[in-house]
Amino acid sequence: MSFWSRHAIFEKNSIVLVIGILIVIAIGGLVEIVPLFYLKNTIEKVDGVRPYTPLELAGRNIYVREGCYLCHSQMIRPLRDEVERYGHYSLAAESMYDKPFQWGSKRTGPDLARVGGKYSDDWHRDHLKNPRLVVPGSVMPDYSWLADTDLDFAHIAQDLKVQALLGVPYTPDMVAKADADVVAQATNDSPEAADLIKRYPKTNARDFDGNPTRITEADALIAYLQMLGTQVDFKLYDDKANIR
Ligand code: HEC
Repeated sequence: MSFWSRHAIFEKNSIVLVIGILIVIAIGGLVEIVPLFYLKNTIEKVDGVRPYTPLELAGRNIYVREGCYLCHSQMIRPLRDEVERYGHYSLAAESMYDKPFQWGSKRTGPDLARVGGKYSDDWHRDHLKNPRLVVPGSVMPDYSWLADTDLDFAHIAQDLKVQALLGVPYTPDMVAKADADVVAQATNDSPEAADLIKRYPKTNARDFDGNPTRITEADALIAYLQMLGTQVDFKLYDDKANIR
């Protein structure tokens, strides 16, 4: 039997063929996956990336709960049209503390990876209440109850602990002050804000939903949206390497 006719073993026996296919695919998989185990860190560190504040984390939970990711991605691809529309392409490090990540795969609405600072808090409040108030013809649904619902942050410290378990570097101090940090960040001119910003650099601390008497779900969600994409100062890099 010549070498080539031995191939008939595979062609005449489906079980052998399946086993052969599995072995070939496994080799392909190993070649891709095994090197990752030997890299100390596959994510390049980038200055400015920090864990979410407790209020931002609470906002992120609402983002997930309401299924915003079903219409919005948070991943700007390094393609010219995306970079011109949304800003600098997303870096791996920017979602390293995003567990689970919100890259998304559907864009009924625009990408939100750099929406932070693009609009005012008032704009977001009106937009969440009824998107048609600020964008005529928008097909985004209303989320009017968010501004009327008190934020339930009874479990936010536990939430931080779980994130820490997954590898987000929350310190015991951050966990202990989680409740106080929620209140400090959602309050205008809070005396605790300086302390909060020491723990979480570049944090926006103010009343986000236009109602300083309550901390609502809109406060948390808007705090989260206003932070998105603002952690890394790309000017530092653009000046040096002239990227973009
Ligand atoms: C059914 C799809 C859909 C869902 C679900 C949805 N959106 Fe949108 N969103 C859109 C569309 C379409 C637009 C563009 C028109 C507009 O601005 O309203 C948009 C626009 C936005 C914008 C403005 C982005 C920009 O750069 O102009 C923000 C912010 C936003 N959505 C946040 C949210 C949040 C937060 C949620 C969840 C509470 C959400 N969206 C849920 C479809 C959706």
